[in-house]
Amino acid sequence: MRVLIVKNYDEMSKEAGKIVKNRLEQKPDLVLGLATGSTPLGLYKELIRMHKEDSVSFAKVRTFNLDEYLGLKPDNEQSYHYFMFENLFKHIDIPRENIYIPDGQTKDPEKFCQWYEDEIEKAGGLDLQVVGIGGDGHVGFNEPGSSLASRTRVKTLDEGTIKDNSRFFAKPEDVPHFAITMGVGTILESKEILFVANGAGKSAIVARAIEGPVTSQVTASILQIHPKAVAILDEAAAADLQRKDYYKYAEEQARRFEKSL
Ligand code: PGA
Repeated sequence: MRVLIVKNYDEMSKEAGKIVKNRLEQKPDLVLGLATGSTPLGLYKELIRMHKEDSVSFAKVRTFNLDEYLGLKPDNEQSYHYFMFENLFKHIDIPRENIYIPDGQTKDPEKFCQWYEDEIEKAGGLDLQVVGIGGDGHVGFNEPGSSLASRTRVKTLDEGTIKDNSRFFAKPEDVPHFAITMGVGTILESKEILFVANGAGKSAIVARAIEGPVTSQVTASILQIHPKAVAILDEAAAADLQRKDYYKYAEEQARRFEKSL
């Protein structure tokens, strides 16, 4: 895994934005996997800025979101549908029909999840998947103990996740207990993964995910076996990495090497 450590949240978002922009330039019909939560908000702001100022177009892009709460209507302000439209989609030129987010209102989750998997496959698979990490090490909503081969399905949220996410809800009781999430196996099949994390609160779990054993107890640790994963971390989130100095040195060397070509 490439580990890029940057000064702060702003730089993390800009570096992540550069990668998305570069992949879009190479493939304007990019199949882009997206995540919700506080972490990617800066990246989405950056994508909106690029669209407005640098004429970056999303007209041919298809997006697949990682997850959605079960039981929330798309117009519920806590739903990931609402989040994505407010924070990204309504500000860029992506056609509505190119946007895929798990249906939190489905009456037949099993059938829906299979359909979602099929749509990803029909799109040619995910080119680039953006992921964050939960306090318990989850990627998507794949809570500890999720099969590392899992596919899109319903997961029961961990108590810690419900507590973490209650900050977005009026009352902790309002947080749904279930979600539809891409599986760990689904995420791993993306051709490239862009992992973003920031803040001191994430440093211990980031270290476990990047340098600990690959384990279903920290599902984000699966990124270690992906052939093309990049972690962009701010200094605070990188603080507990044992090999931090090496990652920085390796990035410096890579930049020097590129310049010499
Ligand atoms: P956060 O959530 O970006 O709000 O920290 C990350 C996650 O739960 O995956």
